[in-house]
Amino acid sequence: MIPESRGESPRDEGREAGNPGPAGFESLYRPVSIGPLTIPGNLFLAPVAGYSDRAFRSVCVRCGANFTYTEMVSSEALTRDSQKTETLMLRAPNEERYAVQIFGGDPERMADAAAMALERTGAECLDINAGCPVPKIVKTGAGSSLTRDPERLAAVTRAVVKAASRFGTPVSVKIRSGWDSENLTWERAARAALDAGAAAVTLHARTRAQGYEGKSDWDILRQLAELVHRDYPGVPVFGSGDLFSPEDAARMLGETRCDGIMFARGAMGNPFIFTQTRELLTRGSYREIDPAERVSTGWEELLSLAGDSGEQAACREMRKRFCAYTKGIEGGGALRSEIVKAETVDHYRRIFESAGFFLPNP
Ligand SMILES: Cc1cc2nc3c(=O)[nH]c(=O)nc-3n(C[C@H](O)[C@H](O)[C@H](O)COP(=O)(O)O)c2cc1C
Repeated sequence: MIPESRGESPRDEGREAGNPGPAGFESLYRPVSIGPLTIPGNLFLAPVAGYSDRAFRSVCVRCGANFTYTEMVSSEALTRDSQKTETLMLRAPNEERYAVQIFGGDPERMADAAAMALERTGAECLDINAGCPVPKIVKTGAGSSLTRDPERLAAVTRAVVKAASRFGTPVSVKIRSGWDSENLTWERAARAALDAGAAAVTLHARTRAQGYEGKSDWDILRQLAELVHRDYPGVPVFGSGDLFSPEDAARMLGETRCDGIMFARGAMGNPFIFTQTRELLTRGSYREIDPAERVSTGWEELLSLAGDSGEQAACREMRKRFCAYTKGIEGGGALRSEIVKAETVDHYRRIFESAGFFLPNP
C-alpha cells in the first residue's frame, strides 16, 4: 500500500498511486551519466541556497540521494579567497560524488573560479547557475539573466568547460524556462550551453518572473528532453520544479522522459523523500517514516552542522529545519514552540528528551 501522498496535484488524475502504468516504475529509476561520470541512480538533491550545506547533503546521501549539489557559490567570492565560500564547497564524508555550483556573468572570472573550485574540492561535476532570479545577481549578468542571454551563456560555458577539462571534470548547466511568460528562452539557452560543451542540462521549469511561485510547466521539460535526446544523443536532461512527493517524482520521470530529477523544497526537513521515491520506483510502494526517525535525522544534521558552523550558528539555523522535520508529527506544535527558542545543542536535547524522544550522544 502506498501511503497517502502529500502534495497531490491534478497530474495524479488518470494514474492511481501504486499502479506503475504500462511502462512500470522500475525503468524510471536508473543510472545516469554526465560525460565520464556515472551516477548509480537518478534521484538528486538540488542546489538550494541556505540549505544544501554539507550537513544536509550528508543526511540526504544517507537517505538515498544519488547525487548532490552545493548551493550556488559566487565566482567573485571564490576568486577573492573567501573562507565562507570555501566552507560552502566542502565535500561531506559520505559524499562519493557531488557537484559544486558556481555563478557569475564574466567568462574569465568563471573559468578561474571553476579551476579553484576543482583544485580545492575535487568535485566530480561543476554546475553553472543560469537560474537565480535575485535582482542583485541578475544585474551582473549572472543567474537567470544567462537564460535570456544565450551568447553570454555560451561564452561562460565554453570558458568553464575549458577550465574543467584540465581536471577531466564534466560541466552541467541549470537553466529556467525563460525570463517571463513572453520570453521563453529555454530552447536557445539549452542549445547555447550544449553547443559550448555542457555535458548535461537541468531545467527548473519556471520563468524568472515566477520566482518560486506558481506552477512549474512540465510540458516545457518534456519538450526539452525530446529535443536534447534527439539532437544531443547521450546528454542527460534533469528536471526540477514542484517535486514534493515520491509520486511527483515518478510522474515527472514518466511524463517528461527526463533522465533524472532534483528534489529541492520537497527535501527540506524530509530527506526521506529519496528513500521513499527509490522504493516507489523499484517496488511500487514505500514505507512511512516514524516521528523518532524524523527527529533523530534532524539531530544528526544538527551535530554535523555544529561541527562545521559552530554551535550557536548551527542551533539558530536548525530552528527552521527542525520545524520542517517535525511537520505533521503528533505534538509537533508544542515541540516547535520550544524549538524556535533553542540556543544550544543541550537545549535541543532537553526539548526532544522531554517530549519522549531518545537521542544518541554527540
Ligand atoms: C530557498 C531556495 C534557494 C535556492 N537556491 C538555489 C541555488 O543556489 N542554485 C540553484 O540553481 N537553484 C536554487 N534554487 C532552486 C531549486 O534548486 C529548484 O530548482 C526550485 O526550488 C524548484 O524546485 P521545487 O519547486 O521542487 O522546490 C533555490 C530554491 C529555493 C526555494
